[in-house]
Amino acid sequence: PAPGLSLSVIGTGYLGATHAVCMALLGHSVVGIDVDENKIRSLASGTLPFYEPGLQELLRRMLACGRLSFSTDFSAAAGADIHFLCVGTPQKPDSPAADLRFLDAALARLAPHLDRACLVAGKSTVPVGTAERLAAFLRSSSPAGDQAELAWNPEFLREGHAVEDTLHPDRLVFGVASRQARALLDACYAPVIADGTPVVETDPATAELVKAAANSFLATKISYINAMAEICEATGADVNQLATALSYDNRIGGRFLTPGLGFGGGCLPKDIRAFTHRAKELGVGQAVGFLQEVDAINQRRRQRTVDLITEMACGDPAGVHVTVLGAAFKPDSDDIRDAPALDVARMLHQAGAKVTVFDPKAMNNARRAYPDLAYADTLEAAVTGAEIVALLTEWDVFRRADPAALGTLVQRRNIVDGRHALDAEAYRAAGWDYRALGAPSKLPAPVHDQAVPTAEPLVML
Ligand code: UDX
Repeated sequence: PAPGLSLSVIGTGYLGATHAVCMALLGHSVVGIDVDENKIRSLASGTLPFYEPGLQELLRRMLACGRLSFSTDFSAAAGADIHFLCVGTPQKPDSPAADLRFLDAALARLAPHLDRACLVAGKSTVPVGTAERLAAFLRSSSPAGDQAELAWNPEFLREGHAVEDTLHPDRLVFGVASRQARALLDACYAPVIADGTPVVETDPATAELVKAAANSFLATKISYINAMAEICEATGADVNQLATALSYDNRIGGRFLTPGLGFGGGCLPKDIRAFTHRAKELGVGQAVGFLQEVDAINQRRRQRTVDLITEMACGDPAGVHVTVLGAAFKPDSDDIRDAPALDVARMLHQAGAKVTVFDPKAMNNARRAYPDLAYADTLEAAVTGAEIVALLTEWDVFRRADPAALGTLVQRRNIVDGRHALDAEAYRAAGWDYRALGAPSKLPAPVHDQAVPTAEPLVML
């Protein structure tokens, strides 16, 4: 095989660490750089500072084979063919806008070390126009001047599927301004492209927009089905049946159409807000006005879930033992950023409920962020004595739990399924009062109890 490229990955958080490991796996020599010494020390010793299935083993393999290293020293990036910017772009503390401080600081530290022709490829999610601004900065502040080029190569990986999504993405987007930039990215992703992954070449601004547009679409799809759940709640209809019927329409499809507590995490919520903010700055806020509604529908799910639990607690959760199953914003992750489950736990705690939380992986993060809540170390300990169990993050271990066995541990068999993840029939058969938003709270009357119309001859007109 052709010798790999020399790459640097600036920012070794979730995205950067995954990218660095996967690029080494593709055969490149990679150095990961971060200002956080603890993170770098941990990665260099083969310990991932976060949970991601399969990634830690790969990290160790790549460190052992010598193609991957980590450093806090930006000079270690000098001489690389491509520098990937993987720095976080969180929401600003006091505004919906994206905070680009870390990205700007990373490029300012990197630029003095760029003294030969190279490509700086941004992967972070940014407001459209950022690449153009950074390209001008790069030209003026790196010794390589015009020879240091900027491209945008957005990342679409999902937490919990990060390795698979990086090695087998649905598509690659290369936002480039020159043939050399395209050629370098082609060489970097050669094995991925050879696998049949489509490449969409765009200008850098379009590439920035693809990411914002994709995440906005996904958020809209989730809020759409959750809006339908609200309608179902008002009529007694069943949003699960509705979603199933919709999903058979190939134009709609079934993915991202699961109703429930809604989306959280470090991406979708802040991305739709930053996109809305950027569109307003550009004078086209009206075009994405609906995203404010998408956000509002999503936030309402959390309150509605609290309301449903309150209803089960006969109108007042004060003093009621509620067990919250799940803390991470989604299963197979220990990420609790904007986690709907913990938001609901917090609201219940504020209303006076005795809340106990259990999550298979996110306990340490949850304990640090919400020290006032009570935590249990196992599923069994968490549900023991519960008056209401609320499934708020759909880990497999919760899906697979036996309703009869759980029923022997709780004080009352009340369960709220915030993710439409459990078998309602099985729970009801085991004597539970099973409730989910957007689904009828009681089973429909058996058919033989309903009035059956007498057979009359049909008159076809
Ligand atoms: C998302 C995008 O999917 C990914 O392409 C991008 O790179 C980063 O942001 P991620 O945040 O890891 O990825 O999680 P994702 O799987 O998209 O789920 C986001 C949230 O939506 C979770 O809280 C999940 O529980 C929720 N969700 C998802 C639903 O409520 N219903 C669904 O049908 C799907």
